[in-house]
Amino acid sequence: MRNNIHIDPKLTFLLTQWVLSRFDNENIFDDFPDHPTGYIRCIDYIHDKKDKLVSNGFPYDNLEIIHKELLRGFGFDVNLPIEENMGIIICYSTKGHRVHPHLDTNFNSEGKGWEVNRHIPNEFIGDVIHTRFNMLLSKPTKGGNPIIQDIEYDADENEGWMCVSGVKEHASTEVEGDKPRIMLSFGHWVPKEELLERGIITHEELNSLN
Ligand SMILES: [Fe+2]
Repeated sequence: MRNNIHIDPKLTFLLTQWVLSRFDNENIFDDFPDHPTGYIRCIDYIHDKKDKLVSNGFPYDNLEIIHKELLRGFGFDVNLPIEENMGIIICYSTKGHRVHPHLDTNFNSEGKGWEVNRHIPNEFIGDVIHTRFNMLLSKPTKGGNPIIQDIEYDADENEGWMCVSGVKEHASTEVEGDKPRIMLSFGHWVPKEELLERGIITHEELNSLN
């Protein structure tokens, strides 16, 4: 879902440069997702303000402004709770990488403290839905677009999109060319009722998951 939210490149410049100068530092980009193809490195839980990010000058002020602009742009409360699986993440990937079609869980199934939820089935849906507010800090010359429910969105660099990732199957097209894909993604728990009332998800979509 797009909403013509374009973030000022002056706000994203520092973040992008920070990533470009550190993506190959495996102490900082320490999550290596199991995606089918290509090179990808991520940082999860950026919102935790880990020492190694702070001491490396991570531009938290800019992150916070972008975060609020995206949430407000899509009409959501800036104090929505952050989901615990990945939280706020940055992913850097290059030629050949793509994200396979999948759904995110609507409860903490892999984040800190996930063990207490180990008996909950992956399809579980409670009162909140895993929803991500995303943008590309760097868009490949070709590919790297989001695909949501089989529809490809030609997102501009610095353009926000929203993905109800716990309900709508999502993926990405393969990165082509030499320019990397850098995705910034803010994960939240959004009340199910709000998404239904606003027509962002439907009862049919929810029922099809059970
Ligand atoms: Fe996902």
